[in-house]
Parts: sequence; C-alpha cells; structure tokens
Amino acid sequence: LCPGFIDLHVHAPQFAFAGTATDRPLLQWLETYTFPTERRFREDLKYAQTVYHAVVSELLANGTTTAVYFATLDVEPCRILVDIAFKQGQRALVGKVCMDRNAPTDYCHSTEQNIRDTETLIAYIYQTAGRRTSTGSLPLILPVITPRFIPTCTPQLLRALGDLAKVHSCHVTSHISESVDEVEWSRQLDQVDQKNISEGRSDAIVFDSYGLLTDQCIMAHGVYLQDDSDWALLRSRGTSIAHCPLSNFFFAGNVLPTRRLMQRGNRIGLATDIAGGSSPSMLHSARMAVVASRALHHHQNTQSNEDDVILDYRHAFFLATLGGAESLGLQDRIGTFRVGMEFDAIILSAANQDGRSPIHVFETDNVGDVFQKLCVLGDDRNIRRVFVQGKDVTVQRTR
Ligand code: GUN
Ligand code: FE
Repeated sequence: LCPGFIDLHVHAPQFAFAGTATDRPLLQWLETYTFPTERRFREDLKYAQTVYHAVVSELLANGTTTAVYFATLDVEPCRILVDIAFKQGQRALVGKVCMDRNAPTDYCHSTEQNIRDTETLIAYIYQTAGRRTSTGSLPLILPVITPRFIPTCTPQLLRALGDLAKVHSCHVTSHISESVDEVEWSRQLDQVDQKNISEGRSDAIVFDSYGLLTDQCIMAHGVYLQDDSDWALLRSRGTSIAHCPLSNFFFAGNVLPTRRLMQRGNRIGLATDIAGGSSPSMLHSARMAVVASRALHHHQNTQSNEDDVILDYRHAFFLATLGGAESLGLQDRIGTFRVGMEFDAIILSAANQDGRSPIHVFETDNVGDVFQKLCVLGDDRNIRRVFVQGKDVTVQRTR
C-alpha cells in the first residue's frame, strides 16, 4: 500500500497524439501538432469527451491519484475535463491555457477573454467541487491559473493572471526555461516589452515581476534556470519545479540537475508532460528520472560527486509521491499516510496471480528487493487498486 502518484504536469488534450510526433523541436512541434490538436477540442466536444475520458482512465490505471492538467484555450472543453475527472474520482488541478500573442490567429484569444474565461473556469470548479477551507477536507478538483509560457503571453495578461492568483489564492502553473530556443525567444520579447533595458530578463525574473512565482506555483522543466540566481529566486518564493525527464530528452536536449536542486532545498516533483513525454505512467517517469541523472553524471565526465548528481529508485519514488505533494503545498493532505490526511493510495503488487505481472519474485528476494523491482520493472499491471479520498476508483480494464 503506497501513496498514489502525483503527476505535476500533463497536457490532457495532447493525449490524443501521445506516442507520435517526436520529430520536431519544441516551437515547431507546437505549431505542427499541438495547436491544431488543441483547437479541435473547441469544435468537437465529443472528441474532447473521448480523449479526456481516455486520459483520466489511463492515468488512474497507472496509479496517478492527482494530476495537474493543462487543458485548452477554450473554456467549454475545460469544463468537460473537470466533469470527467470529478466523475471518475481523480484528484485534479485543471487549468484553462492562456495565450494572447504569438499563437495561430484561430487559436489565440484577446487578453480580456483569457482573463474572463480563466475566472469562469475557476468559478465552475468551485461550484462543482467546492472551495478549500482551512479546516475541511480538500476539494477533489482545484483550479490552476495557466499562462502557457512567456512567448505566448503579453505582459498585460501575465500581470492580470498574477492578480487573479492572489485574489483567489489558487495554484499557478506554466513552462519555465524549457529549451534553448524558448529561452532565447523569451529574452528577446522581454527586451522589447521592457523597452529601456539592454537585455531581456530570465523567465524566472519575468514571471516573478508579475506576481506569478508563488508558493502555490509549479513550473515545468526549468532545465535552463540559472543555478545561483533563478534557483534561489524559486526557493525564496516557494515555487516548485515539475521535472519532466523524458520530455527534456526531446525538447530541452539537456538534463535537469534534480538531485542538486533537492539538496539546495528547492521544491521539486515529477511529471509525465504528455505528449512531450509519451508515457502516461509515473513509474516510467520515475525510471526516466534515474536514467536522466545517470546521463548527466556521464556528461559531466564523472568529475562531479555521485551523491550530488545520481538519483536512485528511492529518490524517484519520493519525487513521484511526497515530492509532488510538497510541490503543490498539499503535503499536509496527500503524498504520504498520516492520520487525518486524505486517503489517496494504490496497491502495488508483484503477485503474479493472473500470469500478467512483468515481475518475478524469487525466494532470495527480501521485501526491499520486491519494492525495488516494482519501482524498476512495474507497470499498470502491478497497480491493483486505486483509492482517492478514501474511495475505490480502480479502473476496470477490459482486455
Ligand atoms: N511550452 C509551451 N507549450 C508547451 C507544451 O504544450 N508542451 C511542452 N512540453 N512545452 C510547452
Ligand atoms: Fe508541458
């Protein structure tokens, strides 16, 4: 019996093309695959229903009891995602994606509409699942303010979203310092936006200047954040990083120094980043985090201290559970087991009763070995039961 997994960053509509489209760098990938797919959700609500039902079911079947979902620009399909997560019993943070510049004309909204629709979705979520109170239990669905990333958001929009985050004291999420081309573009835009400075600022400083780096903010990637300045800024604000190791191999072309960030005291958790990352499984993401740390160690030519770089399955399991809860500021409610917390749990089992487990346990294995095998070799076949808020929400696979 383990705490359920917490996926800190997943694009629900992109589940439609997860497992394909890994042949372009980030900005071309957005134009070619992502924006057309997400736009389709506006016109075809039945499609939205189908894809959202599939992604919520698949994540639950993989033991993800909490997901931070990026939805789409349009508020109607966002409501559908809220309804489906609520009905299936998955804990979710759902964000209406905001873009008011540098997006296709048919998949871009005005600043005002982005703000209005964000407020509409927040109100809908509070209406559906209730508000968080200081004493009561956690509502199943929470809103999250979601500027897509700096290049597609004007300073006016970012400022207004920062204000909304304060007014509603709700979560914030976005992408930060993800890839070389994105970082360069952000800097150029900021230089123009600010007019009188010689050089654009880093993503972290820009987000912070609009009040978006809060202790309820989860920023995805962060591979190109600067160690001394940006990391310290995130730390001082209590802002966390969603580590997306597989996606980083494709778009970032580099590895996040996860272990070092943990040692510095930065809040950090793990994510799949569907469809930048193809797998819906947090066990898979956890393994990728271990592999990524090895790649970083090799790249640094093993000069660096192993204890400063390499993650093992235990670190990765922590990041997939309690690390995620801490990143959301919800460590008093989820991510581990203590009396009075929500019961968000999974039964991870290596038992091979139906002959479908990929894990083989021998008499020489102790309980620690079995747990390690589950972390390293396990998949959805080993996730026997899933509970959220004490309710059995196990997905019945019809294979
Ligand atoms: N940056 C802006 N949008 C996206 C997205 O949809 N996926 C990823 N990985 N990065 C982004
Ligand atoms: Fe992403």
